[in-house]
Amino acid sequence: MAPIPPEIERYAEEHTTPHDELLAELARETYASMDCPQMLTGPVEGRFLQTLVHVAGARRVLEIGTFTGYSALSMAAALPPGGRLDTCEVSETHAEVARRYFARSPHGDRITLHMGPANETIPRLDGEFDVVFVDADKTGYPEYYELVLPRLSARGVIAFDNTLQDGRVLEGGELDESTRAIAELNDRLVRDERVVVAFLTVRDGVTLVRRSA
Ligand SMILES: C[S@@+](CC[C@H](N)C(=O)[O-])C[C@H]1O[C@@H](n2cnc3c(N)ncnc32)[C@H](O)[C@@H]1O
Repeated sequence: MAPIPPEIERYAEEHTTPHDELLAELARETYASMDCPQMLTGPVEGRFLQTLVHVAGARRVLEIGTFTGYSALSMAAALPPGGRLDTCEVSETHAEVARRYFARSPHGDRITLHMGPANETIPRLDGEFDVVFVDADKTGYPEYYELVLPRLSARGVIAFDNTLQDGRVLEGGELDESTRAIAELNDRLVRDERVVVAFLTVRDGVTLVRRSA
């Protein structure tokens, strides 16, 4: 079940500021050459993440799950001079594409790509994060949550992607491992008194989490 009807998705995209030519080229290459191109966030969610970085006045962004670099480049464009984005990736095939586009972007020098499992990379990074975008292996989300929550700046926000799992989180019965992990996290987040949660039906579900006052 696609959570949002395709014609609504199309309408939203038509009424979102289009991506620039570099991101358009990146999207074309990703769709032409990658096994799961739909992992790329795309224009609507890309602009959403960029706006989040902008309104948060973020100087430090952490991304978990680079893929070919679309969301990293979208967010980096909203960083102020001196701002930094750290992004974590395990696949050299994906990272090779991302690196090429980071090198061509005027914002690419703000991005550091860390190869290796995110749960090993995050503890090695210094400081606090203003925006964290979690978009990697779904079974890892609970661990990423506990790793990044103590590292969130006072006004920081975590955005979890794919929290609808194509609507499968609503299904009863036997769930696949990723959907079960996400469904359990969704239930846990809304009960967690440490945080305030806004569950958005953007694309495949984006859950925003910030610290409680
Ligand atoms: C959904 S894609 C990310 C999409 C990307 N944010 C974008 O907008 O184009 C998920 C990525 O996470 C990577 N990944 C999977 N497990 C990981 C892990 N344990 N640590 C870091 N990256 C991981 C995958 O190789 C894949 O490239």
